[in-house]
Formats: sequence, structure tokens, C-alpha cells
Amino acid sequence: MTALPSAPAQTEGARLSLIAQGLTGSSVVESRRRADRLAEQGVRILDLGAGEPDFSAPPVVVEAAMQALRDGNGQYVDPRGLVALRERIADMETTRHGHPVTPDQVVVTTGSFGALSIACRAILDPGDEVLIPEPFWGPYRNLVQMSGGVAVPVPAEAIDGRFSFPGEALAERITARTRAIVINSPNNPTGRVLSPAELRAVADLALAHDLWIVADEVYGELVFGDAVHRSVATLGPEVARRTIIVNSLSKTFAMTGWRLGYSIARPDVATVLARMNHYSVRCPTSFVQQAAVTAFDSGWQAVEEMRQSYLGRGQLVARRLARLPGVRFAPPEGTFYAFPRIPEAWGDGTIFAARLLDEAGVLASAGRSYGASAAQHLRFSFATSTAVLDEAFDRIERLVGVAP
Ligand SMILES: Cc1ncc(COP(=O)(O)O)c(C=O)c1O
Repeated sequence: MTALPSAPAQTEGARLSLIAQGLTGSSVVESRRRADRLAEQGVRILDLGAGEPDFSAPPVVVEAAMQALRDGNGQYVDPRGLVALRERIADMETTRHGHPVTPDQVVVTTGSFGALSIACRAILDPGDEVLIPEPFWGPYRNLVQMSGGVAVPVPAEAIDGRFSFPGEALAERITARTRAIVINSPNNPTGRVLSPAELRAVADLALAHDLWIVADEVYGELVFGDAVHRSVATLGPEVARRTIIVNSLSKTFAMTGWRLGYSIARPDVATVLARMNHYSVRCPTSFVQQAAVTAFDSGWQAVEEMRQSYLGRGQLVARRLARLPGVRFAPPEGTFYAFPRIPEAWGDGTIFAARLLDEAGVLASAGRSYGASAAQHLRFSFATSTAVLDEAFDRIERLVGVAP
């Protein structure tokens, strides 16, 4: 995330760890707090900053959670996760993603945050480096740091507002300390889906340099048009062996606050991840796991309806962005984000995001939060109603005008 001040260095008393002292705050959280303060003063904020669905979990899933509670299912469960759930996840991965997985490869976690956290701790020793292609979801950096690792952002280039995957730059940054590459497709914030050739390039680097691939696939079900979500693990057993997939029900089933995710790795690695899960959280919430079984059994219709809705909203945002003077962008191939490049005349993304909030009451995320090479961009989330999106872009047009 943008370099906010880290925790103040402690000079006396029992001291915090150096890792804790080095941890920075999130600029995204900061701007949300500022929006909340403006809302308290009576400003009607239009929220295009949210990184989560505006839908609720499918009713059948809510009912399953309540039934599980009524049935008294509130005890600890196996730190790997419920067998029935691991079976559903393995089956889903095999049938929907063409990646043959068995339940002993699956570990149920507290969201993909939990999956990423145990993955980092499982593969990193102090000082080990993790390559993170820009633009990237900010918390990767912090999660790597919390595990004692060193996050190495890899700058990317945007042509006409569309970011290319920085394959060559990635290769140039490999050192003797490099342990892993993090990839995220479909990508937050760009909405891009990695092509088979780009996935192959990552796999080849990992094979050549004995690296792990941490593949964040949380937006895998949210792809549009011709875009196809492919897991890097489908490129062959030798690639799958060094890949740790992280995923969750958060975006797929609109269950962000339920905190349920999973990792998929080869069985011996999954055993280690399950131990780490055990000593981190004991197990993710038992009745949420039961509800998740129902999500995989009966939630797909709802997922498709949400996807259709995001598709329409994404098209609306693309139409509205095309009217803004000097703005360059690539229509999103997946996720619920658009990531346009704004003209230099408006200031950089951070300056313009602050102006948008203060002068138009529109909350968007500054590109700098996703890496230095994205500083001229803004992330607009379209996980909100078309009415809010239209009003937000009306306000933006009043601020910057319309292209001739
Ligand atoms: C790319 C990406 N990965 C992971 C997460 C974490 O999601 P969760 O822990 O809810 O699965 C998010 C949330 O915004 C995200 O955008």
C-alpha cells in the first residue's frame, strides 16, 4: 500500500517486534475513514471504493448457517476443514477449473487472507524475497512482511490505460533470495485476466529458478465475455506441485464478512498449511463451513445472477469513462473494478482521488495503493447500483467536463 507512517519506533519499555514496528497502515482504509467523516458532516458520499460485493449471501446459504447453529454445530472442527467442504472444493476445482484436485490438497481458511498468511509463513524464511507484479492488491506486501519476508514490487507499464504483465521485469528481479511469485488473475485492481502465454511465462520462471507460485484466484468466477479464468496450476503437474492457490467464498458468493476461504496445494504442503492454520486460528468457524457446503451445492444460480449484474455495471462504467476527456482505460475482463489512467493535468491518482472525495463526494481508490507504476490511475469499484454509478459519473463530469 502507499507508504503511510509505520508504527513509531519504540525507545523504552517492552518493545514490539521489528516486524510489527515496520508494518504500515492502509491508505485505502485512511480514505474510507475520511469519507466516513464527511458523511457524518452530512455529505452524501457515493462509494466507488468498496472492494466487496454489494449483494448479500444467497438466502439458501444464510438458512444453512442458521440451521447448523440450531443443530448445535458450534464445536471445533478439523484444522484442515470439514471433509464435506473439502470434497466440494476439490470437486469444484476439478470440474469448473479443469484442475484435478483431491480433498487432501484442500485446507479451509479464514478467507483468502488466512490462506495467504499461512502460505507466506510456510514458504518464507527471514529475508526471503517475493516478487509481486504491479498493479497488485496492497495487503500482499504486508502479509509478506509479517512473515519476515521482503516484498519486491515489479513495475509494469500501461499502454493506453491497459497494463501489460511485466514478465521480463519479473525475470530481471530474481535473486538468490527469491522464493515466490504472487499472481492474481483476474486482477484487483486492473480487472485483467492473464493470458495462457503470460501464465506460461510465470510457470517457466518458477520452474527455472525453483520458485513457488502463489496464485490468488478470488475473482476466478467473475469473468466477462470471451475472458476465461485459467489457473496456472493447469499448466502441468510440475507447475501444480509448486503452486499454492488461494481462494475464498468472499467475492464468489458475496460472503466477505463470513471469513471463509481455502488454499489448494500438493498434499504434503497442504498438511503443513493445515498445521499452520491450526496454530493460527484452530479452525475457521464451524457453522460457516457447513453453510459453505450449501453454497457449493446450491449457490451457483445466485453467482451467475451477480456476475450478470457486474457485467452490466462494468459496461456502464466503460461507457461513462469513455466520455471523460483524456482518460484511458481497458474494459474490465473480470472482477468488479475499472482502473483508468487519468490525464496528468488532473494531478496524479492520489491528488485527484482526494479532489473527487472533497469536491464531488465520490470515493475511489488512488492507483498508488497498487504500486508506484499505477500512480496515474484510479480504481473505481462497480460493486454498487447503476443509480449510484450514474450519479457518481455525473458528478465527475461536472468536475472535469466531457470529451469533445
Ligand atoms: C485480490 C484479493 N485477494 C484477496 C482478498 C481477500 O479476500 P478474503 O480474505 O475476503 O477472501 C481480496 C479482498 O479484497 C482481494 O481483492
